[in-house]
Amino acid sequence: MKLLVTGTDGYIGILLGPTLLERGHDVVGLDTGFYRNGWLYNGVVKFPACINKDIRHITEEDLRGFEAVVHLAELSNDPLGQLNPEITYKINHLGSVELAKKCKKVGITRFVYTSSCSVYGVGGSDGYKTEESETNPQTAYAECKVLVERDVSALADDDFSPTFLRNATAYGPSPRMRFDLVLNNLAGLAWTTGEIKMISDGTPWRPLVHVLDICEAIACALEAPREVIHNQIFNVGDTKENYQVREIAQIASDTFPGCRLTVGTSGGDNRSYRVSFDKIKAQLPGFECRRDARMGANQLCELFERIDLSPEIFEHRAYTRLKQLQHLIRTQQLDTNLFWR
Ligand SMILES: NC(=O)c1ccc[n+]([C@@H]2O[C@H](COP(=O)([O-])OP(=O)(O)OC[C@H]3O[C@@H](n4cnc5c(N)ncnc54)[C@H](O)[C@@H]3O)[C@@H](O)[C@H]2O)c1
Repeated sequence: MKLLVTGTDGYIGILLGPTLLERGHDVVGLDTGFYRNGWLYNGVVKFPACINKDIRHITEEDLRGFEAVVHLAELSNDPLGQLNPEITYKINHLGSVELAKKCKKVGITRFVYTSSCSVYGVGGSDGYKTEESETNPQTAYAECKVLVERDVSALADDDFSPTFLRNATAYGPSPRMRFDLVLNNLAGLAWTTGEIKMISDGTPWRPLVHVLDICEAIACALEAPREVIHNQIFNVGDTKENYQVREIAQIASDTFPGCRLTVGTSGGDNRSYRVSFDKIKAQLPGFECRRDARMGANQLCELFERIDLSPEIFEHRAYTRLKQLQHLIRTQQLDTNLFWR
């Protein structure tokens, strides 16, 4: 398929482009490049060409000729959303819906959207959230995911098939690393300080998924028969990969020899949800998660050893989305609407 992938210069996108090329697709990327200061390691050989553009400036002309669009380019986590909820709505909600409308207008038939399990918000400990469960977003970021699903779903018709992939929290090595994701962060702490000190009691539940399993889910959604994915929501992950945060910390500390782990007592973050991933396994042809958190932690350990990850690199702004955007605004490289000056 001839594909346009937005956000190809981010944590997931930098691996998704090569994954789709390897599967024989014709891929063009698009990204405004907020995080290009960060490049943790080499290793991926072939990347798609990338259009350097903000999604808010995409024209119908840019989109003509593509069969499908995979849309990742948004402000990608809760703290970023809280930094400036208004700009989060402009990019994540309005930007994404406008993009989908333009795609439909030029005759693109498939639109794969990377939503998030954070739409489930505070789930309590009673049972597992399915695609049918009520959403309960707790932040501007999660609220935008719900709004995009609602508004893009309304565009679905015989000629336009959106698919909503609600990804669990990702982990695993990527050249465009994010150390603000829970397992990546704990692994980095374990390696650079030999210690994981949790202030909270670590009881909240978080489903996790390997970044390459997300890439495969996207590829499978693109390649599936239309009736399987038409206007469907899929949680992306594996039901076995629901962890309490303190279990994630335990995995990180087990993986890094000599790492001390202490767990605190405070309640901390109230976002907690367990998620069922049975639908994607049963219904999306060819998809299953092939990696788990222990494997991911081991891969991170091997990577940190190979590149001799230093505390300075681990803490560098380029690997924490909020810090990098704050830096670009403070140094007047970006204006307050997050356009390059
Ligand atoms: N990583 C996760 O755990 C996770 C989980 C669930 C959903 N998601 C979703 O997957 C998508 C990708 O996540 P990621 O972890 O790779 O994030 P990321 O922040 O690493 O990458 C996002 C990319 O989009 C680009 N971008 C942002 N706003 C843009 C704009 N207005 N115009 C053009 N480019 C823009 C950035 O430059 C960046 O390269 C996001 O939509 C995110 O919400 C991620």
